[in-house]
Amino acid sequence: MKIEQRIDEAVAPLREKIRDLELSLSQKYPPVKFLSEKDRKRILITGGAGFVGSHLTDKLMMDGHEVTVVDNFFTGRKRNVEHWIGHENFELINHDVVEPLYIEVDQIYHLASPASPPNYMYNPIKTLKTNTIGTLNMLGLAKRVGARLLLASTSEVYGDPEVHPQNEEYWGHVNPIGPRACYDEGKRVAETMCYAYMKQEGVEVRVARIFNTFGSRMHMNDGRVVSNFILQALQGEPLTVRMVRASVSVGTDVMEVHEMCSQGNPEEHTILEFARLIKSLVVSRSQIQFLPEAQDDPQRRRPDIRKAKMMLGWEPVVPLEEGLNKTIQYFSRELEHQANNQYIPKPKAARMKKGRPRHN
Ligand SMILES: NC(=O)c1ccc[n+]([C@@H]2O[C@H](COP(=O)([O-])OP(=O)(O)OC[C@H]3O[C@@H](n4cnc5c(N)ncnc54)[C@H](O)[C@@H]3O)[C@@H](O)[C@H]2O)c1
Repeated sequence: MKIEQRIDEAVAPLREKIRDLELSLSQKYPPVKFLSEKDRKRILITGGAGFVGSHLTDKLMMDGHEVTVVDNFFTGRKRNVEHWIGHENFELINHDVVEPLYIEVDQIYHLASPASPPNYMYNPIKTLKTNTIGTLNMLGLAKRVGARLLLASTSEVYGDPEVHPQNEEYWGHVNPIGPRACYDEGKRVAETMCYAYMKQEGVEVRVARIFNTFGSRMHMNDGRVVSNFILQALQGEPLTVRMVRASVSVGTDVMEVHEMCSQGNPEEHTILEFARLIKSLVVSRSQIQFLPEAQDDPQRRRPDIRKAKMMLGWEPVVPLEEGLNKTIQYFSRELEHQANNQYIPKPKAARMKKGRPRHN
């Protein structure tokens, strides 16, 4: 037998092992569709390691696109997208959108911004910079590379609304100097910037006004009703209801929109009804406790989704109880990890004026 033949025979099993190894590595990812070069888009998701952004990443990756997540990990975490790390269609960049970014993309989903009151109030100036300078940077990028940009806006642009339900034509009722203003006004000006770039520079923009959303990967300590109630019910603590005639509407879908649209679930519940529902779903013995009203808390929220329905055929698909049950399961698992000494960061209290200066 020739020496080459002997070598081939010896190497053959090793080759097979390598093939198996490669196969097992490639199978660790969720399945992705194959898209031809023509249909495959290069998509940037800012804030893609956060709650909403990571679900959007999953959707676009599974649809077969190339996704670049840009995140400074202020409230997001690598764990939310770790299942894509190493995939040839995926890239994760640790970057703050307040700094310019130069990459080549076809579409931008601009989600980078803390979303819950304790997080956006923690450093209001930074929240303003993220929503203003960060949005300008992303619009500049969109203009430079001819990309379409979607801004994740919020129902907070309506402030404490005087119109109910809220539709896209309502201009809002925001306190410009209140504790929530850094976020509310930041998002309002971000929307203004989008339309200025559209009118002046011809950039294709979309704005989605998202209402209160919950689900897996949301922050357990985000200080909002759904997470508060679930956490309190699971831990046997009193469910704290603020004494207002408040009601919320909720949504659990992530989607692509083509104009300015309000998105959420038009089903409306009082906060007390929510507390009772979550208490019963968790089967918790927690009491319900009433607290005084917080400053500038919106009294009522309910999206008018007729435009989204008419133009996009969009409406919420996850029923409330199903969404809550999934979120409760997620929180239970996270609490188990916590009990096993796995660290879950808690947002720090809002900083007051004094103290060590912080680099923004
Ligand atoms: N979740 C909701 O109920 C809701 C409602 C309305 C609007 N929104 C909007 O949707 C978007 C996503 O919200 P979410 O609930 O996923 O919040 P999130 O806090 O989970 O995600 C935001 C992400 O942005 C990142 N980020 C923040 N500042 C950044 C910066 N300067 N540079 C780069 N990355 C930065 C965070 O690290 C995080 O990963 C936000 O723009 C938010 O305003 C969310």
